Amino acid sequence: MALINVKVEKVTQEAEGIRSFVLAKKGIFNFPPYTPGAHIDVHCGEGIIRQYSLCGDPADRRHLMIAVRQVDPSRGGSDLMHKVVTKGDRLEIGAPRNNFPLDEAAAHSVLLAAGIGITPIIAMADRLHALGRSFALHYFSRATEHTAFRNRLSEGGYADKVIFHEGLDIRATGQTLDDILAAPAADGRVYMCGPGPFMDRAETAAQAHWPVDTINLERFAAKPALSGALTKPFTVELAQRGITLEVGANETILDVLEAHEIDAAFSCEQGVCGTCVTDVLAGTPEHRDSFLSPKQRRSGKMMCLCVSRASNAKLILDL
Ligand code: FES
Repeated sequence: MALINVKVEKVTQEAEGIRSFVLAKKGIFNFPPYTPGAHIDVHCGEGIIRQYSLCGDPADRRHLMIAVRQVDPSRGGSDLMHKVVTKGDRLEIGAPRNNFPLDEAAAHSVLLAAGIGITPIIAMADRLHALGRSFALHYFSRATEHTAFRNRLSEGGYADKVIFHEGLDIRATGQTLDDILAAPAADGRVYMCGPGPFMDRAETAAQAHWPVDTINLERFAAKPALSGALTKPFTVELAQRGITLEVGANETILDVLEAHEIDAAFSCEQGVCGTCVTDVLAGTPEHRDSFLSPKQRRSGKMMCLCVSRASNAKLILDL
């Protein structure tokens, strides 16, 4: 996919450890259109690519906004974005992609964000407000100083729909999630984004009451249980190429494709971004990603090549 050159037009400290970046498009063409929940790949430098959700105004086709939390310890991306990238720098990004789409027609939407997980959620809230739809946004953070976009949320047009949950401990967070999700709305949807432990707890609370297909989530990293050791070998047949490859116990499908110089799109290699999702024509995938929805998993028709495996001896892929 072609990369887009951008200039860092503005850097803002949105909260302790969280900075937003406004990226400007140069030249005569606009950015491609995108919808709330979309993210971009950012080439941060030193060969590091990270995915960041878009949290600006989709109607502004000359600018994109992302926000980045400084992670400690950093795997490189957040350190570069916080310590190296400054106003005026040039970066390369991928075109916006949306793996976390908003159902704009839902009767009511419950938006749950924790920490930097506010980025796709605030874009959803902006959109639902613009459409006049019913929604509530619950934003969990460690403390007020860690709450990004606090002024935008508390002074904007939908301030009455935003509930801040600041400084709750683990138990209180769980109880609050249980309370919020105890009564599913008719034709409602739940969206959640945040760190792993929050997501695990929020997903459990939602699944206790909400139909599984109404629960939508975006994770930053694979669930530990799903990113565990590789196991048994299996065979993949690439239907378009008419070749069959062996995937060893200690390698991924993506490893094998790369070893045979077969092009396949990928980005995070952790099962969270969805870039490597590929159609499965036969066989049963053993899903180890944190990206596909329960419905997509059940269909058995697609899988993430970077982490998922085969639950039987052979898979046939549309490659
Ligand atoms: Fe991101 Fe596979 S490369 S899910």
